[in-house]
Amino acid sequence: MNLPSVILIGLACLGAIAMVATIAYLLTARRYQSADSVANSYDAWTEDGILEFYWGDHIHLGHYGSPPQSKDFLTAKADFVHEMVRWGGLDTLPAGTTVLDVGCGLGGSSRILAQDYGFAVTGVTISPQQVKRAQELTAAGINAQFLVDDAMDLSFADGSFDVVWSIEAGPHMPDKAIFAKELLRVLKPGGVLVVADWNQRDDRQIPLNFWEKPVMQQLLDQWSHPAFSSIEGFSELLAATGLAAGEVTTADWTIPTLPSWLDSIWQGIIRPEGLVDLAFLASSNLSGKCLP
Ligand SMILES: C[S@@+](CC[C@H](N)C(=O)[O-])C[C@H]1O[C@@H](n2cnc3c(N)ncnc32)[C@H](O)[C@@H]1O
Repeated sequence: MNLPSVILIGLACLGAIAMVATIAYLLTARRYQSADSVANSYDAWTEDGILEFYWGDHIHLGHYGSPPQSKDFLTAKADFVHEMVRWGGLDTLPAGTTVLDVGCGLGGSSRILAQDYGFAVTGVTISPQQVKRAQELTAAGINAQFLVDDAMDLSFADGSFDVVWSIEAGPHMPDKAIFAKELLRVLKPGGVLVVADWNQRDDRQIPLNFWEKPVMQQLLDQWSHPAFSSIEGFSELLAATGLAAGEVTTADWTIPTLPSWLDSIWQGIIRPEGLVDLAFLASSNLSGKCLP
């Protein structure tokens, strides 16, 4: 085989991969429209079980240590919760401490906080199906309850909780200033807010370049996210509420969480049955919709 034909075959393969990726992107994108569209997305992902199949009850990145080490995919997710507890100093708080888990998903964090640290946890999510599944996954005796509530307008009175906790819910919020205010409003004076989110670089300093823009856009479109904050931008919003006592402390966990991305892809390769089942479910739904 001469060199030009190798290049041609290489280009054809790249073109085919790009086409498959574009089709998958167009078929699976769930762009943000409203709180209802986010709720519908999580209801659908909960009913088809795809996220739980691959990620268990933690819909967030894993923590692989500093420096990162090879780790079981699900262990890394539970470790993320324990790292966040330590980082926020929550491991020094007494049993019975009240915690609000904002955007609680299937309640993975809430159950760890209740079981391992003895906290009294309330988890809220915009998705009724997640509440139902979180309740099913919570054994009797675990001090964690789950409710549907909107983080943009929480139904709790001012100063209700000792700790407010949130993992990877922020990118779903259409107004980050209101989100920041709600998180701090329901916190008791002297309480602790701990938040971990996907963030983008502060583009007031260095704008996203021509290839970063589509990468970030597909992360928005695939996951019903209206926009990402930056670490700097969101800490400024928290400070601007006037409700934060002292400095807002931040940390960048890019390095310890980075292996999650390749690990997620790897899980799809070694456990393809989740995606195959999903494709089968999608085709049954399609044929079901054709029936009168
Ligand atoms: C990526 S998941 C993270 C779930 C959970 N924190 C975890 O780490 O497993 C984002 C969560 O935010 C919730 N969420 C999105 N928008 C919300 C809103 N406006 N109010 C309350 N929860 C919301 C979703 O329903 C989902 O449970």
